[in-house]
Amino acid sequence: MASIEFVNVTQAFDKNVIIQDMNLRIEDGKFTVLVGPSGCGKTTLLRMIAGLDRQTSGSVLIDGKDVTSIPPGQRGVAMVFQNYAIYPTMSVRENIEFGLKNNKVPKEERTRLVESISETVGLRPYLDRKPSTLSGGQRQRVALARAMVKKPSVFLMDEPLSNLDAKLRVQMRIELIELHKQLGTTFVYVTHDQVEAMSMADTIVLMNEGRIQQEAAPETIYRQPSNLFAAQFIGVPPMNIGKLGTDGVSFGFRPESGVLSDERTGAHYCVKGTIVTREMLGSETIYQVKTGPHAFMIKCTEDLFTADREVYLSVDSDKLFFFGEDGSRIAPSDRRVDDYLRALRGNVYV
Ligand SMILES: Nc1ncnc2c1ncn2[C@@H]1O[C@H](COP(=O)(O)OP(=O)(O)OP(=O)(O)O)[C@@H](O)[C@H]1O
Ligand SMILES: [Mg+2]
Repeated sequence: MASIEFVNVTQAFDKNVIIQDMNLRIEDGKFTVLVGPSGCGKTTLLRMIAGLDRQTSGSVLIDGKDVTSIPPGQRGVAMVFQNYAIYPTMSVRENIEFGLKNNKVPKEERTRLVESISETVGLRPYLDRKPSTLSGGQRQRVALARAMVKKPSVFLMDEPLSNLDAKLRVQMRIELIELHKQLGTTFVYVTHDQVEAMSMADTIVLMNEGRIQQEAAPETIYRQPSNLFAAQFIGVPPMNIGKLGTDGVSFGFRPESGVLSDERTGAHYCVKGTIVTREMLGSETIYQVKTGPHAFMIKCTEDLFTADREVYLSVDSDKLFFFGEDGSRIAPSDRRVDDYLRALRGNVYV
């Protein structure tokens, strides 16, 4: 097991700064998920931990030790890539054993390790098969087993489930959570899928344009997003955002915090609007409601309204968020919030 630390790390390729002065501590034994849009620097970060790329400046520490000059093979780190490269001509057993043979691990020990790890990932019955005869999920497991067999103290995974269909992804997600519990190893998992991040992480590190936007437990990011980016990246549909018309401030609320009704209610924010679209998803219905200059997504557990209808949209004051001109969230305890709540109450389009 091992902790990982970035201290003032900058990574630039040909003067293009990708990661800017990053400070981050990844806790020992935790399941940490790096999430952010394509191109924000997630793979770049993983490659620096693995030692595949050297940072331009700053230091990367593993278990408190600067690993800058330690080659990838000696860092105790294993990486599973997005396009898991398994050897098609080798059997499952040979694929898993490959790294061990290279490291001159004796035959008996190799057999024991391969059998115990293939048991863990459910590949025992397939050891003598060729990868071409396996399903996508089973191949993914071969890639995982091959990384696990090296007994790494840090497990790096770069979008390992991106090649799998939706159903298999959900299954593998659960298996990875189980695997992490069982191994107790530090997991650093990269994805651009916020649902994956929410469901798997102990800690989410949310990135945008090479900078950390927020680093917190999934429920904290959801309930207390630190800025507009976090508020809109985590959650489906994303948080509704509107302009308050004062100080460049925006207000926001989650789609499930909006309540639709035929009559006006006593809620702090209550506006009249029109249903533009209705998406019935089974257990819930998502309505798009146009009100004044805004179009808000509202998630309802009941399917009571049809498109083109007029409705009232209500949001309680404790479900409202405010963001300053620079995008950072204004805490509910901030003195200005009372003024903003008052301004919003007057902000009624009828
Ligand atoms: N070796 C390199 N040389 C030049 N530019 C690079 C190199 N590696 C990455 N970049 C650039 O750095 C930026 C971040 O890339 P990175 O691969 O880390 O993104 P990512 O967050 O993993 O995105 P994705 O979700 O699409 O995989 C991109 O703009 C990319 O073009
Ligand atoms: Mg990437």
